[in-house]
Amino acid sequence: PETGSLSIVVLGASGDLAKKKTFPALFHLYRQGFLPADEVSIFGYARTIISNDELRERLRGYLVRDKDASSEELEVVAKFLHLIKYVSGPYDSEDGFHLLDKEILEHESLKTSAKGLSRRLFYLALPPSVYPSVCKMIKTCCMNKSDGGWTRVVVEKPFGKDLESAEQLSTQIGALFEEPQIYRIDHYLGKELVQNMLVLRFANRLFLPLWNRDNIANVQIVFREDFGTEGRGGYFDQYGIIRDIIQNHLLQVFCLIAMEKPVSLKPEHIRDEKVKVLQSVVPIKDEEVVLGQYDGYRNDPTVPNNSNTPTFASVILRIDNERWEGVPFIIKAGKALNSRKAEIRVQFKDVPGQKQGRNEFVIRLQPEEAMYMKLTVKQPGLEMSTVQSELDLSYRQRYQGVKIPEAYERLILDTIRGDQQHFVRRDELKASWEIFTPLLYRIDKGEFKPFSYQAGSRGPAEADKLLEKAGYVQTHGY
Ligand code: BG6
Repeated sequence: PETGSLSIVVLGASGDLAKKKTFPALFHLYRQGFLPADEVSIFGYARTIISNDELRERLRGYLVRDKDASSEELEVVAKFLHLIKYVSGPYDSEDGFHLLDKEILEHESLKTSAKGLSRRLFYLALPPSVYPSVCKMIKTCCMNKSDGGWTRVVVEKPFGKDLESAEQLSTQIGALFEEPQIYRIDHYLGKELVQNMLVLRFANRLFLPLWNRDNIANVQIVFREDFGTEGRGGYFDQYGIIRDIIQNHLLQVFCLIAMEKPVSLKPEHIRDEKVKVLQSVVPIKDEEVVLGQYDGYRNDPTVPNNSNTPTFASVILRIDNERWEGVPFIIKAGKALNSRKAEIRVQFKDVPGQKQGRNEFVIRLQPEEAMYMKLTVKQPGLEMSTVQSELDLSYRQRYQGVKIPEAYERLILDTIRGDQQHFVRRDELKASWEIFTPLLYRIDKGEFKPFSYQAGSRGPAEADKLLEKAGYVQTHGY
């Protein structure tokens, strides 16, 4: 691994994402020894005028619960917080960024014991509207000028609102940084069972020959949350569930299920295949879309009371290639439903004369990572009857004591290591917006109305009808 000074700058340090995700992930990396104190400094940058200590105090509560923590843990937290320095300034002024650069340079010169490169990572935990100006400031004031060192920027979704704005954003950032310097984070790519997809598909004889239209009847990729847009109505209403979850998180999962085998496991080869499968998706048909909005969504004071924004969507994607022709991929996401769950369900075709229960392979991303396969077996006992049962790999049971890393933790480590495999490339982003932009425009214009559904329910009944129409057969057991 590379050594040398490492400066991690969290822009938007006092915001929600930074507090809830970025800093806790950095803390876990620090705790496991990935951010050695003799190399690393963390800088928080934001507009709010607060002191170092105030920022550290604000972050503490997100890193540890004092009442449960041992004195050793509290000590680790204190040491980690000590690595953080706060710089306040606007997002569009050179003065602020020159000040930040001064602090970074000071840190770089102090870490004299650390031989090797100087590395600068800028994490934009900010709304995308300020990305162009922040990137420009970084480029003008804070570039790493040392030989062999690097400067990288990490950006969060939403990357644009449609094809045009996403491309515009990509062009603006692309004029300042090279693609290998840009890390577009999609935290679903950091989830354990998402990272497992390619291994599962390509390292198991069992799946390799079956993974196609001859054997698979349909695939579902489902995201459910049992809470609404609480506190985020203002943001959410501008975006809706397709832009918030489907165009990014679920489409990334879709790519990994549907793509062809990459030439190698090199990040570029993997991303090439993802782009190809996205480009093979045919235009979405109106009759293969069901939208919903939960009752009570409009009660949020930040949501207009005539809002048409969907909080639920079920969309069938179809792929025009030899492997998948005729196989519906049902992509479904909803807020304020009856459970919190994200899973992939691959349903196999019937065997001749099948009377009950199809084979179904389920990959549960969360909660409680698991993979299980529904099989038909003989009902144990004297009689000769059949029953549906499961082959079950529940991670908690099988990998007792193994801590599954948080998605952000893993992905931030990748940015430091320079591994872009689990990040979205510019052409991938473009291809994913191409799929959804026509539908999104119609929704935005009010041409596509969401059905209402009760908060805490399964979502609109029309979505179950769509599923049935797609040929999904309800299985039993789990
Ligand atoms: C975010 C969305 O990207 O993902 C949120 O903006 C959503 O609306 C969240 O709640 C879900 O992430 P996870 O990891 O909890 O499934």
